[in-house]
Amino acid sequence: MMSIACKRSLVLVAFGFAVAPFCSAGNVMRGAKANHRAGDTPAIAEYFGTKSRYEEVNPHLIDDALAVNESLLKLPYNDCVPVHLTAVIRHGTRYPTAKNIKKLHQLHKVVLEKAQDLGEGWLDEIKNRWKMDYTDDIDGNIAEKGREDHRNLAVRLAKTFPSLFTADNFRQDRMQFITSTKPRCEDSAKAFIQGLVMHHWELKGPLDVEKHLQRNDNLMRFFEHCRRFVVDVEENKTALKEVDLFKTKAEMKTVLEKVASRLHTAYSDLTPDLIEAAFYLCSYEFAIKTVNSPWCNLFDEEDAKVLEYGNDLKQYWKRTYGHEINQKSSCPLFHDLFERLDKAAEDSKKFATVEKPVTIQVGHAETLLPLLSLMGFFKDEVPLTSDNFAQQQNRTFRSSQIVPYASNLVFVLHRCRDSHRVQLLLNEKPLPFPSSSDPAPEYHSLRDLYGELLEGCDARRECELPNHNLSNAEL
Ligand SMILES: *[C@@H]1O[C@H](CO)[C@@H](O)[C@H](O)[C@H]1NC(C)=O
Ligand SMILES: *[C@@H]1O[C@H](CO)[C@@H](O)[C@H](O)[C@H]1NC(C)=O
Ligand SMILES: *[C@@H]1O[C@H](CO)[C@@H](O)[C@H](O)[C@H]1NC(C)=O
Ligand SMILES: *[C@@H]1O[C@H](CO)[C@@H](O)[C@H](O)[C@H]1NC(C)=O
Repeated sequence: MMSIACKRSLVLVAFGFAVAPFCSAGNVMRGAKANHRAGDTPAIAEYFGTKSRYEEVNPHLIDDALAVNESLLKLPYNDCVPVHLTAVIRHGTRYPTAKNIKKLHQLHKVVLEKAQDLGEGWLDEIKNRWKMDYTDDIDGNIAEKGREDHRNLAVRLAKTFPSLFTADNFRQDRMQFITSTKPRCEDSAKAFIQGLVMHHWELKGPLDVEKHLQRNDNLMRFFEHCRRFVVDVEENKTALKEVDLFKTKAEMKTVLEKVASRLHTAYSDLTPDLIEAAFYLCSYEFAIKTVNSPWCNLFDEEDAKVLEYGNDLKQYWKRTYGHEINQKSSCPLFHDLFERLDKAAEDSKKFATVEKPVTIQVGHAETLLPLLSLMGFFKDEVPLTSDNFAQQQNRTFRSSQIVPYASNLVFVLHRCRDSHRVQLLLNEKPLPFPSSSDPAPEYHSLRDLYGELLEGCDARRECELPNHNLSNAEL
Protein backbone atom coordinates (compact mmCIF):
# COMPACT_ATOMS: atom_id res chain seq x y z
CA MET A 1 0.00 0.00 0.00
CA MET A 2 1.24 3.40 -0.90
CA SER A 3 1.35 6.26 1.57
CA ILE A 4 0.31 9.79 0.80
CA ALA A 5 3.94 10.83 0.84
CA CYS A 6 4.77 8.26 -1.82
CA LYS A 7 1.96 9.44 -4.05
CA ARG A 8 3.16 12.99 -3.71
CA SER A 9 6.72 12.05 -4.47
CA LEU A 10 5.55 10.38 -7.64
CA VAL A 11 3.76 13.55 -8.63
CA LEU A 12 7.03 15.38 -8.20
CA VAL A 13 8.86 12.79 -10.27
CA ALA A 14 6.31 13.38 -12.99
CA PHE A 15 7.25 17.05 -12.84
CA GLY A 16 10.84 16.08 -13.54
CA PHE A 17 12.02 16.62 -9.98
CA ALA A 18 14.81 14.67 -8.39
CA VAL A 19 13.26 13.10 -5.32
CA ALA A 20 15.12 11.25 -2.62
CA PRO A 21 14.26 7.54 -2.33
CA PHE A 22 11.67 8.61 0.16
CA CYS A 23 9.07 5.87 0.04
CA SER A 24 11.42 2.97 0.44
CA ALA A 25 13.47 4.71 3.09
CA GLY A 26 10.41 5.93 4.95
CA ASN A 27 8.05 3.01 4.98
CA VAL A 28 9.56 -0.30 3.98
CA MET A 29 12.25 0.10 6.61
CA ARG A 30 9.61 0.01 9.33
CA GLY A 31 8.76 -3.60 8.52
CA ALA A 32 6.09 -4.46 6.03
CA LYS A 33 3.94 -6.35 8.52
CA ALA A 34 3.50 -3.46 10.91
CA ASN A 35 0.16 -3.55 12.69
CA HIS A 36 -0.52 0.01 11.65
CA ARG A 37 -1.13 1.09 8.12
CA ALA A 38 1.52 3.46 6.86
CA GLY A 39 -0.05 6.78 5.96
CA ASP A 40 -2.77 6.60 8.61
CA THR A 41 -3.05 9.72 10.64
CA PRO A 42 -2.36 9.26 14.36
CA ALA A 43 -5.41 10.19 16.45
CA ILE A 44 -3.22 12.69 18.32
CA ALA A 45 -1.83 14.46 15.23
CA GLU A 46 -3.67 17.72 15.84
CA TYR A 47 -1.89 18.26 19.17
CA PHE A 48 1.75 18.28 18.05
CA GLY A 49 2.19 22.04 18.62
CA THR A 50 5.14 23.48 16.72
CA LYS A 51 5.85 19.99 15.39
CA SER A 52 2.51 19.76 13.62
CA ARG A 53 2.16 18.97 9.96
CA TYR A 54 0.82 21.80 7.79
CA GLU A 55 -1.86 19.42 6.48
CA GLU A 56 -3.47 19.31 9.93
CA VAL A 57 -4.51 22.96 9.55
CA ASN A 58 -5.40 22.52 5.87
CA PRO A 59 -6.69 18.95 5.51
CA HIS A 60 -7.83 19.47 1.91
CA LEU A 61 -4.14 19.45 0.92
CA ILE A 62 -3.93 15.74 1.76
CA ASP A 63 -5.91 14.97 -1.39
CA ASP A 64 -4.52 17.75 -3.53
CA ALA A 65 -1.32 19.41 -2.36
CA LEU A 66 -1.75 22.25 -4.88
CA ALA A 67 -5.42 23.04 -4.21
CA VAL A 68 -6.37 26.64 -3.62
CA ASN A 69 -9.74 27.70 -2.17
CA GLU A 70 -10.40 30.92 -4.06
CA SER A 71 -13.81 31.56 -2.53
CA LEU A 72 -12.16 31.72 0.89
CA LEU A 73 -9.87 34.56 -0.21
CA LYS A 74 -12.24 36.61 -2.32
CA LEU A 75 -12.68 40.17 -1.04
CA PRO A 76 -16.16 41.66 -0.70
CA TYR A 77 -15.02 44.84 -2.50
CA ASN A 78 -15.20 45.57 -6.19
CA ASP A 79 -12.31 46.66 -8.33
CA CYS A 80 -9.51 45.56 -6.02
CA VAL A 81 -6.22 44.38 -7.49
CA PRO A 82 -3.34 43.03 -5.43
CA VAL A 83 -0.22 45.20 -5.82
CA HIS A 84 2.11 43.84 -3.16
CA LEU A 85 2.54 40.71 -1.05
CA THR A 86 4.85 40.06 1.88
CA ALA A 87 4.90 36.55 3.33
CA VAL A 88 6.64 35.58 6.56
CA ILE A 89 7.04 31.83 6.38
CA ARG A 90 8.37 29.25 8.78
CA HIS A 91 10.79 26.65 7.39
CA GLY A 92 9.25 23.35 6.31
CA THR A 93 9.20 20.00 8.10
CA ARG A 94 12.53 19.32 9.73
CA TYR A 95 14.42 16.60 11.54
CA PRO A 96 14.86 16.82 15.31
CA THR A 97 17.70 18.95 16.63
CA ALA A 98 20.77 17.32 18.19
CA LYS A 99 19.46 18.09 21.68
CA ASN A 100 16.21 16.30 20.98
CA ILE A 101 17.92 13.41 19.22
CA LYS A 102 19.82 12.74 22.44
CA LYS A 103 16.52 12.55 24.33
CA LEU A 104 15.09 10.20 21.71
CA HIS A 105 18.03 7.85 22.21
CA GLN A 106 17.55 7.93 25.99
CA LEU A 107 13.88 7.14 25.58
CA HIS A 108 14.60 4.28 23.20
CA LYS A 109 17.08 2.80 25.66
CA VAL A 110 14.67 3.01 28.60
CA VAL A 111 11.90 1.35 26.62
CA LEU A 112 14.15 -1.43 25.32
CA GLU A 113 15.44 -2.14 28.81
CA LYS A 114 12.37 -1.63 30.98
CA ALA A 115 9.19 -2.09 29.00
CA GLN A 116 7.61 -5.54 29.17
CA ASP A 117 6.02 -6.74 26.01
CA LEU A 118 2.90 -8.64 27.04
CA GLY A 119 1.73 -9.31 23.53
CA GLU A 120 0.79 -5.88 22.20
CA GLY A 121 1.76 -5.74 18.57
CA TRP A 122 2.95 -2.14 18.70
CA LEU A 123 5.22 -2.72 21.69
CA ASP A 124 6.64 -5.81 20.05
CA GLU A 125 7.32 -3.68 17.01
CA ILE A 126 9.08 -0.97 19.02
CA LYS A 127 11.19 -3.52 20.86
CA ASN A 128 12.06 -5.86 18.02
CA ARG A 129 11.70 -4.20 14.66
CA TRP A 130 11.65 -0.42 14.95
CA LYS A 131 15.04 1.10 14.16
CA MET A 132 16.39 4.29 15.65
CA ASP A 133 17.62 6.14 12.56
CA TYR A 134 17.76 9.68 13.98
CA THR A 135 21.44 10.48 14.18
CA ASP A 136 23.24 13.63 15.29
CA ASP A 137 24.26 14.63 11.77
CA ILE A 138 20.65 15.44 10.79
CA ASP A 139 20.56 18.15 13.50
CA GLY A 140 17.48 20.24 12.74
CA ASN A 141 17.94 19.94 8.99
CA ILE A 142 15.14 20.20 6.51
CA ALA A 143 13.46 16.92 5.54
CA GLU A 144 12.45 16.14 1.97
CA LYS A 145 8.86 16.68 3.12
CA GLY A 146 9.93 20.17 4.27
CA ARG A 147 11.17 21.07 0.78
CA GLU A 148 7.92 19.78 -0.60
CA ASP A 149 6.01 21.97 1.91
CA HIS A 150 7.69 25.06 0.46
CA ARG A 151 7.59 24.04 -3.22
CA ASN A 152 3.85 23.42 -2.94
CA LEU A 153 3.16 26.56 -0.90
CA ALA A 154 4.97 28.59 -3.57
CA VAL A 155 2.78 27.14 -6.30
CA ARG A 156 -0.41 27.75 -4.32
CA LEU A 157 0.48 31.37 -3.52
CA ALA A 158 1.43 31.97 -7.15
CA LYS A 159 -1.88 30.44 -8.31
CA THR A 160 -3.74 32.68 -5.87
CA PHE A 161 -1.91 35.89 -6.84
CA PRO A 162 -0.80 35.32 -10.45
CA SER A 163 -0.42 39.03 -11.24
CA LEU A 164 2.27 39.38 -8.53
CA PHE A 165 4.09 36.07 -8.99
CA THR A 166 5.13 36.56 -12.60
CA ALA A 167 8.23 35.14 -14.22
CA ASP A 168 9.10 38.66 -15.38
CA ASN A 169 8.99 40.00 -11.83
CA PHE A 170 11.31 37.19 -10.85
CA ARG A 171 13.76 37.67 -13.73
CA GLN A 172 13.89 41.41 -13.13
CA ASP A 173 14.66 40.97 -9.43
CA ARG A 174 11.38 42.51 -8.40
CA MET A 175 10.79 39.60 -6.02
CA GLN A 176 12.84 39.41 -2.85
CA PHE A 177 13.71 36.27 -0.91
CA ILE A 178 15.07 36.96 2.56
CA THR A 179 16.06 34.11 4.83
CA SER A 180 17.48 33.27 8.25
CA THR A 181 20.94 31.71 7.92
CA LYS A 182 19.86 28.40 9.46
CA PRO A 183 20.28 25.71 6.78
CA ARG A 184 16.65 24.56 7.19
CA CYS A 185 15.50 28.09 6.32
CA GLU A 186 17.87 28.57 3.39
CA ASP A 187 16.82 25.18 2.03
CA SER A 188 13.16 26.10 2.45
CA ALA A 189 13.65 29.40 0.61
CA LYS A 190 15.46 27.60 -2.21
CA ALA A 191 12.65 25.04 -2.45
CA PHE A 192 10.15 27.90 -2.60
CA ILE A 193 12.02 29.44 -5.55
CA GLN A 194 12.25 26.04 -7.26
CA GLY A 195 8.51 25.59 -6.78
CA LEU A 196 7.89 28.85 -8.61
CA VAL A 197 10.41 28.43 -11.37
CA MET A 198 10.16 24.74 -12.14
CA HIS A 199 6.57 23.91 -11.18
CA HIS A 200 4.58 27.08 -11.56
CA TRP A 201 6.26 28.85 -14.48
CA GLU A 202 7.84 25.63 -15.77
CA LEU A 203 10.91 27.50 -16.94
CA LYS A 204 13.66 25.44 -18.48
CA GLY A 205 17.37 25.99 -18.18
CA PRO A 206 19.77 26.40 -15.28
CA LEU A 207 18.51 28.12 -12.16
CA ASP A 208 20.90 29.88 -9.81
CA VAL A 209 18.77 30.00 -6.65
CA GLU A 210 21.69 31.28 -4.58
CA LYS A 211 21.69 34.49 -6.61
CA HIS A 212 18.19 35.32 -5.42
CA LEU A 213 18.71 34.75 -1.69
CA GLN A 214 19.36 37.48 0.85
CA ARG A 215 20.40 36.38 4.32
CA ASN A 216 19.32 38.54 7.22
CA ASP A 217 19.35 37.28 10.81
CA ASN A 218 18.70 40.72 12.29
CA LEU A 219 15.30 40.45 10.65
CA MET A 220 14.54 36.73 10.72
CA ARG A 221 16.29 35.78 13.97
CA PHE A 222 15.71 39.07 15.84
CA PHE A 223 15.31 37.10 19.09
CA GLU A 224 19.05 36.43 19.15
CA HIS A 225 19.91 40.09 18.77
CA CYS A 226 17.76 41.46 21.58
CA ARG A 227 19.89 41.50 24.75
CA ARG A 228 16.98 42.14 27.06
CA PHE A 229 15.17 39.10 25.72
CA VAL A 230 18.27 36.92 25.93
CA VAL A 231 19.08 37.94 29.51
CA ASP A 232 15.59 38.39 30.99
CA VAL A 233 13.94 35.39 29.35
CA GLU A 234 16.21 33.01 27.49
CA GLU A 235 18.95 32.80 30.13
CA ASN A 236 16.60 33.38 33.07
CA LYS A 237 15.63 30.16 34.82
CA THR A 238 12.59 31.67 36.54
CA ALA A 239 11.12 33.22 33.39
CA LEU A 240 9.70 29.83 32.34
CA LYS A 241 8.71 28.66 35.80
CA GLU A 242 5.12 27.90 34.73
CA VAL A 243 6.49 25.47 32.16
CA ASP A 244 8.51 23.63 34.81
CA LEU A 245 5.69 23.71 37.34
CA PHE A 246 3.27 22.12 34.91
CA LYS A 247 5.52 19.04 34.82
CA THR A 248 4.75 18.51 38.53
CA LYS A 249 0.98 18.90 38.25
CA ALA A 250 -1.68 16.20 38.49
CA GLU A 251 -2.40 16.29 34.74
CA MET A 252 1.18 15.42 33.89
CA LYS A 253 1.38 12.76 36.60
CA THR A 254 -1.69 11.10 35.14
CA VAL A 255 -0.05 10.98 31.71
CA LEU A 256 3.07 9.43 33.22
CA GLU A 257 1.00 6.80 35.03
CA LYS A 258 -0.94 5.92 31.89
CA VAL A 259 2.19 5.64 29.75
CA ALA A 260 3.96 3.55 32.42
CA SER A 261 0.98 1.23 32.50
CA ARG A 262 0.92 0.88 28.70
CA LEU A 263 4.62 0.03 28.74
CA HIS A 264 4.24 -2.26 31.79
CA THR A 265 7.05 -0.44 33.46
CA ALA A 266 7.49 1.42 36.75
CA TYR A 267 6.36 5.03 37.06
CA SER A 268 9.84 5.84 38.35
CA ASP A 269 11.41 4.70 35.06
CA LEU A 270 9.79 7.65 33.30
CA THR A 271 10.15 11.42 33.48
CA PRO A 272 8.15 14.26 31.89
CA ASP A 273 11.09 14.82 29.52
CA LEU A 274 11.06 11.19 28.35
CA ILE A 275 7.29 11.38 27.85
CA GLU A 276 7.73 14.52 25.81
CA ALA A 277 10.42 12.81 23.73
CA ALA A 278 8.06 9.92 22.96
CA PHE A 279 5.30 12.35 21.95
CA TYR A 280 7.69 14.14 19.61
CA LEU A 281 8.99 10.87 18.23
CA CYS A 282 5.44 10.09 17.15
CA SER A 283 5.22 13.59 15.63
CA TYR A 284 8.54 13.31 13.75
CA GLU A 285 7.70 9.92 12.30
CA PHE A 286 4.41 11.32 11.08
CA ALA A 287 5.55 14.72 9.80
CA ILE A 288 8.78 13.51 8.18
CA LYS A 289 7.76 10.08 6.91
CA THR A 290 3.95 10.16 6.94
CA VAL A 291 4.08 7.08 9.13
CA ASN A 292 1.73 6.33 12.00
CA SER A 293 4.52 5.16 14.27
CA PRO A 294 4.10 2.46 16.93
CA TRP A 295 5.28 5.12 19.39
CA CYS A 296 1.97 6.92 18.91
CA ASN A 297 0.28 4.07 20.80
CA LEU A 298 1.78 5.39 24.03
CA PHE A 299 -0.79 8.20 24.11
CA ASP A 300 -4.50 8.78 23.91
CA GLU A 301 -6.14 12.06 23.01
CA GLU A 302 -6.42 13.24 26.62
CA ASP A 303 -2.67 12.70 27.11
CA ALA A 304 -1.99 14.58 23.89
CA LYS A 305 -4.01 17.58 25.08
CA VAL A 306 -1.92 17.75 28.23
CA LEU A 307 1.34 17.55 26.30
CA GLU A 308 0.12 20.11 23.80
CA TYR A 309 -0.63 22.45 26.68
CA GLY A 310 2.90 21.95 28.02
CA ASN A 311 4.26 23.03 24.64
CA ASP A 312 1.87 25.99 24.45
CA LEU A 313 2.92 27.12 27.92
CA LYS A 314 6.50 27.24 26.68
CA GLN A 315 5.59 29.23 23.58
CA TYR A 316 3.45 31.55 25.70
CA TRP A 317 6.14 32.36 28.26
CA LYS A 318 9.15 32.26 25.96
CA ARG A 319 7.80 33.70 22.70
CA THR A 320 4.59 35.64 23.22
CA TYR A 321 2.41 37.22 25.91
CA GLY A 322 4.20 35.80 28.97
CA HIS A 323 6.82 38.57 28.92
CA GLU A 324 6.47 41.83 27.03
CA ILE A 325 10.00 41.71 25.68
CA ASN A 326 9.14 38.51 23.78
CA GLN A 327 6.80 40.56 21.62
CA LYS A 328 8.95 43.67 21.51
CA SER A 329 11.95 41.72 20.25
CA SER A 330 10.12 41.52 16.92
CA CYS A 331 9.99 45.30 16.45
CA PRO A 332 12.59 45.22 13.63
CA LEU A 333 10.47 42.80 11.62
CA PHE A 334 7.29 44.78 12.38
CA HIS A 335 8.82 48.01 11.09
CA ASP A 336 10.34 46.27 8.09
CA LEU A 337 6.90 44.99 7.18
CA PHE A 338 5.20 48.36 7.42
CA GLU A 339 8.01 50.10 5.53
CA ARG A 340 7.39 47.65 2.69
CA LEU A 341 3.66 48.31 2.78
CA ASP A 342 4.22 52.09 2.95
CA LYS A 343 6.57 52.00 0.00
CA ALA A 344 4.27 49.77 -2.03
CA ALA A 345 1.22 51.95 -1.30
CA GLU A 346 3.19 55.04 -2.28
CA ASP A 347 4.52 53.45 -5.49
CA SER A 348 1.06 52.29 -6.35
CA LYS A 349 -0.45 55.76 -5.86
CA LYS A 350 2.25 57.65 -7.72
CA PHE A 351 3.24 55.29 -10.52
CA ALA A 352 0.45 52.72 -10.57
CA THR A 353 3.18 50.12 -10.43
CA VAL A 354 5.11 48.75 -7.49
CA GLU A 355 8.86 48.37 -7.46
CA LYS A 356 8.88 45.21 -5.33
CA PRO A 357 5.59 43.35 -5.74
CA VAL A 358 6.64 40.29 -3.69
CA THR A 359 8.76 39.73 -0.59
CA ILE A 360 9.21 36.24 0.80
CA GLN A 361 10.79 36.02 4.26
CA VAL A 362 11.74 32.65 5.67
CA GLY A 363 12.31 32.17 9.39
CA HIS A 364 11.15 30.20 12.38
CA ALA A 365 8.16 29.60 14.65
CA GLU A 366 10.17 31.87 16.98
CA THR A 367 9.96 34.54 14.28
CA LEU A 368 6.21 34.31 13.72
CA LEU A 369 4.99 33.97 17.31
CA PRO A 370 6.50 37.19 18.69
CA LEU A 371 5.28 39.16 15.65
CA LEU A 372 1.76 37.73 15.93
CA SER A 373 1.61 38.58 19.63
CA LEU A 374 3.09 42.05 19.09
CA MET A 375 0.22 42.64 16.67
CA GLY A 376 -2.32 41.36 19.21
CA PHE A 377 -3.37 38.02 17.70
CA PHE A 378 -4.42 34.94 19.72
CA LYS A 379 -4.51 36.78 23.02
CA ASP A 380 -6.62 34.97 25.59
CA GLU A 381 -8.19 36.95 28.43
CA VAL A 382 -6.62 34.76 31.08
CA PRO A 383 -2.89 33.99 30.91
CA LEU A 384 -1.82 30.39 30.39
CA THR A 385 -0.40 29.02 33.65
CA SER A 386 0.53 25.68 35.17
CA ASP A 387 -2.73 25.74 37.14
CA ASN A 388 -5.39 26.41 34.55
CA PHE A 389 -5.14 23.62 31.98
CA ALA A 390 -8.85 22.78 32.34
CA GLN A 391 -9.92 26.41 32.13
CA GLN A 392 -7.86 26.86 28.96
CA GLN A 393 -9.55 24.09 26.96
CA ASN A 394 -11.01 26.66 24.57
CA ARG A 395 -8.01 29.00 24.39
CA THR A 396 -7.23 30.71 21.11
CA PHE A 397 -3.49 30.28 21.72
CA ARG A 398 -2.83 26.85 20.22
CA SER A 399 0.52 26.62 18.51
CA SER A 400 -0.65 23.49 16.65
CA GLN A 401 -3.08 25.74 14.78
CA ILE A 402 -0.86 28.80 14.50
CA VAL A 403 2.67 27.64 13.71
CA PRO A 404 2.85 24.17 12.15
CA TYR A 405 5.77 23.53 9.79
CA ALA A 406 5.71 25.94 6.82
CA SER A 407 3.16 28.15 8.60
CA ASN A 408 2.83 31.49 6.89
CA LEU A 409 1.57 34.98 7.58
CA VAL A 410 0.79 36.78 4.34
CA PHE A 411 0.06 40.51 3.98
CA VAL A 412 -1.54 41.45 0.69
CA LEU A 413 -1.89 45.10 -0.24
CA HIS A 414 -4.75 45.70 -2.69
CA ARG A 415 -5.45 48.82 -4.73
CA CYS A 416 -9.20 49.29 -4.61
CA ARG A 417 -11.40 51.96 -6.16
CA ASP A 418 -10.76 54.71 -3.61
CA SER A 419 -8.10 53.39 -1.33
CA HIS A 420 -5.59 50.70 -0.53
CA ARG A 421 -6.63 47.78 1.62
CA VAL A 422 -4.71 45.07 3.42
CA GLN A 423 -5.78 41.46 3.51
CA LEU A 424 -4.12 39.19 6.04
CA LEU A 425 -3.84 35.43 5.74
CA LEU A 426 -2.51 32.95 8.25
CA ASN A 427 -1.81 29.55 6.78
CA GLU A 428 -3.77 30.58 3.67
CA LYS A 429 -6.91 31.46 5.62
CA PRO A 430 -8.21 34.95 6.38
CA LEU A 431 -7.03 36.26 9.76
CA PRO A 432 -9.13 39.19 10.97
CA PHE A 433 -7.16 42.01 12.59
CA PRO A 434 -7.78 42.41 16.33
CA SER A 435 -10.97 44.37 17.03
CA SER A 436 -11.86 44.49 13.35
CA SER A 437 -14.34 42.45 11.37
CA ASP A 438 -13.30 43.93 8.03
CA PRO A 439 -11.67 41.19 5.90
CA ALA A 440 -9.44 43.87 4.35
CA PRO A 441 -9.34 47.16 6.26
CA GLU A 442 -8.17 50.31 4.53
CA TYR A 443 -4.44 50.74 4.87
CA HIS A 444 -4.70 54.05 6.68
CA SER A 445 -7.02 52.57 9.32
CA LEU A 446 -4.60 49.71 9.79
CA ARG A 447 -1.86 52.26 10.36
CA ASP A 448 -4.13 53.89 12.95
CA LEU A 449 -4.75 50.56 14.66
CA TYR A 450 -0.99 50.06 15.03
CA GLY A 451 -0.19 53.75 15.48
CA GLU A 452 1.45 53.33 18.84
CA LEU A 453 3.79 50.60 17.60
CA LEU A 454 4.54 52.52 14.41
CA GLU A 455 5.53 55.55 16.47
CA GLY A 456 7.58 53.55 18.94
CA CYS A 457 8.59 49.91 19.16
CA ASP A 458 12.21 50.93 18.94
CA ALA A 459 14.22 47.72 19.17
CA ARG A 460 17.33 49.55 20.26
CA ARG A 461 15.59 51.08 23.22
CA GLU A 462 13.49 48.01 24.08
CA CYS A 463 16.38 45.59 23.84
CA GLU A 464 19.17 47.58 25.46
CA LEU A 465 20.07 46.71 29.02
CA PRO A 466 21.20 49.32 31.54
CA ASN A 467 24.84 48.94 32.66
CA HIS A 468 25.37 46.23 30.22
CA ASN A 469 29.02 45.28 30.15
CA LEU A 470 30.10 43.40 27.06
CA SER A 471 30.98 39.85 27.89
CA ASN A 472 34.06 38.22 26.39
CA ALA A 473 31.93 36.32 23.93
CA GLU A 474 30.76 39.54 22.35
CA LEU A 475 34.14 41.19 22.02
C1 LIG B 1 -13.69 26.86 0.50
O1 LIG B 1 -14.03 27.81 1.49
C2 LIG B 1 -15.43 27.92 1.73
C3 LIG B 1 -15.63 29.01 2.76
O2 LIG B 1 -15.45 30.24 2.19
C4 LIG B 1 -15.96 26.59 2.20
O3 LIG B 1 -17.36 26.69 2.39
C5 LIG B 1 -15.63 25.50 1.22
O4 LIG B 1 -16.01 24.26 1.72
C6 LIG B 1 -14.15 25.49 0.89
N1 LIG B 1 -13.88 24.55 -0.16
C7 LIG B 1 -12.93 23.61 -0.04
C8 LIG B 1 -12.75 22.73 -1.24
O5 LIG B 1 -12.26 23.47 0.94
C1 LIG C 1 13.66 36.52 35.48
O1 LIG C 1 12.27 36.28 35.36
C2 LIG C 1 11.52 36.66 36.46
C3 LIG C 1 10.11 36.17 36.24
O2 LIG C 1 9.60 36.71 35.08
C4 LIG C 1 11.62 38.15 36.66
O3 LIG C 1 10.88 38.56 37.79
C5 LIG C 1 13.09 38.54 36.83
O4 LIG C 1 13.22 39.93 36.89
C6 LIG C 1 13.92 37.99 35.69
N1 LIG C 1 15.35 38.18 35.98
C7 LIG C 1 16.13 38.86 35.19
C8 LIG C 1 17.57 38.92 35.53
O5 LIG C 1 15.72 39.40 34.19
C1 LIG D 1 -15.39 25.15 25.93
O1 LIG D 1 -16.33 25.19 24.88
C2 LIG D 1 -17.31 24.17 24.97
C3 LIG D 1 -18.15 24.19 23.71
O2 LIG D 1 -18.52 25.49 23.40
C4 LIG D 1 -18.14 24.40 26.23
O3 LIG D 1 -19.12 23.39 26.37
C5 LIG D 1 -17.20 24.36 27.44
O4 LIG D 1 -17.93 24.68 28.62
C6 LIG D 1 -16.05 25.34 27.28
N1 LIG D 1 -15.07 25.11 28.34
C7 LIG D 1 -14.53 26.08 29.07
C8 LIG D 1 -13.60 25.67 30.15
O5 LIG D 1 -14.73 27.26 28.86
C1 LIG E 1 30.48 46.62 34.58
O1 LIG E 1 31.89 46.66 34.71
C2 LIG E 1 32.31 47.52 35.76
C3 LIG E 1 33.84 47.62 35.72
O2 LIG E 1 34.43 46.37 35.37
C4 LIG E 1 31.83 46.99 37.10
O3 LIG E 1 32.25 47.84 38.17
C5 LIG E 1 30.30 46.95 37.05
O4 LIG E 1 29.80 46.36 38.25
C6 LIG E 1 29.82 46.13 35.86
N1 LIG E 1 28.37 46.23 35.77
C7 LIG E 1 27.57 45.17 35.63
C8 LIG E 1 26.12 45.45 35.55
O5 LIG E 1 27.97 44.03 35.54
